Amino acid sequence: MPKPSSFWDERFAADEYVYGVQPNDFVRDAAVTWLSSPQAVLDLGCGEGRNAVHLAQQGHTVTAVDYSAEGLHKTRRLAEREGVSVDTIQADVREWAPDRTWDAIVVTFLHLPPSEQAQLYDLLQRVLRPGGLLIAEWFRPEQRTEGYTSGGPPDVEMMVTADELREHFDAEGIERIEIAEPMLDEGMHKGRGATVRFVWYSPEQPSD
Ligand SMILES: C[S@@+](CC[C@H](N)C(=O)[O-])C[C@H]1O[C@@H](n2cnc3c(N)ncnc32)[C@H](O)[C@@H]1O
Repeated sequence: MPKPSSFWDERFAADEYVYGVQPNDFVRDAAVTWLSSPQAVLDLGCGEGRNAVHLAQQGHTVTAVDYSAEGLHKTRRLAEREGVSVDTIQADVREWAPDRTWDAIVVTFLHLPPSEQAQLYDLLQRVLRPGGLLIAEWFRPEQRTEGYTSGGPPDVEMMVTADELREHFDAEGIERIEIAEPMLDEGMHKGRGATVRFVWYSPEQPSD
């Protein structure tokens, strides 16, 4: 059986940036609103680096993580082309256990099987510093059940719901949770999409 990242390595093997080189719209706008001063930002499941490089251009110190070597290679190439620095780490988010935290985390369209999604939510909360900020966008189930054709995994079970986010993240930290229907124009994601957009602050005092 091929390693799971081989799917992404194959997708990213061509020179073309399959999700484009412009940042995701929500990340770009949310960063203006919520990341106004330079921060240490982690881009988890960074793909080919479009968000990581954009955030570095805005003055943030960016760490970009993905398990696809090809994606990280293109992230470094894009960073070099744009004259910014992005630290890249090859890791599987289901196992990664860094020994530091970040001020903010960005996640876009990192979809895992349902049995593994909780591991991602736990990781996000472990690696955010107290008071740190999460900015995320995922496709929601309607992307499949209502016939949107703008991308995302074929399996409806891999989509993310607002209820699931409310279940896993402390309600007090929820700054924004939006059932969105953006017009996507980001390479393979093209056309109207069904997404959930999430902005969450980690508690200032970590719970025991
Ligand atoms: C749809 S792409 C999105 C890439 C990027 N966030 C963007 O929006 O352009 C999903 C990314 O998640 C990465 N990914 C999926 N499962 C992963 C895992 N278990 N560990 C690390 N990266 C993973 C893939 O390699 C791929 O780069």
